[in-house]
Amino acid sequence: MQLAILISGRGSNMLAVADAVKSGEIDATICLVLSNKENALGIEEAARRGLPTQVLTKDKSIGRAEYDKQLLDAVTSAKPDLIVLAGFIYILDKELVDAYSGKMINIHPSLLPKYPGLHTHRKVIANGDKQHGLTIHYVTSELDSGPIIMQRAIDVLAEDDEHTLAARLLPYEHSCLVETVAGIANGEVCS
Ligand code: GRF
Repeated sequence: MQLAILISGRGSNMLAVADAVKSGEIDATICLVLSNKENALGIEEAARRGLPTQVLTKDKSIGRAEYDKQLLDAVTSAKPDLIVLAGFIYILDKELVDAYSGKMINIHPSLLPKYPGLHTHRKVIANGDKQHGLTIHYVTSELDSGPIIMQRAIDVLAEDDEHTLAARLLPYEHSCLVETVAGIANGEVCS
């Protein structure tokens, strides 16, 4: 299975997947790590590890339609069987989503349908929720929705703030994402 991973920042989920590919836990090859941010920490680390990387930023001279076309071209040229959105902050064009229907997954740090969008940890704390969690789902053209593959809940502790909560959730994100991608690669999760 050829795997494309799209990121915008730190890339810790991408690196967890890359580690699992390297160890053989995920039976796949990473064909592309793409960042839409120039200075994303994750893209530097991916390049350092010798993974095929591409930075594709949307500069102000091009419109959204042109950028979406460039993104579609970049992704399709890598010929992925599965695209993983791992902290990719950009709302994808419908053409790209439709082209990879059932072959694109996203990891989102909330128990969807609660808290689509950004600042999920802050919202959980502000609302006094007792539980938080993560969702891995297939991508559809509606933001942070689409069929759910896996969810993992954790308890919110009395002493948590948004930062401690995010930090405590992150290792579960890594392990669940690895488990999901491994499951898709070996056919246990249908795509
Ligand atoms: C993660 O919390 C992920 O769930 C969300 O964005 C964050 C990305 O973190 N979509 P990282 O770049 O993988 O470290």
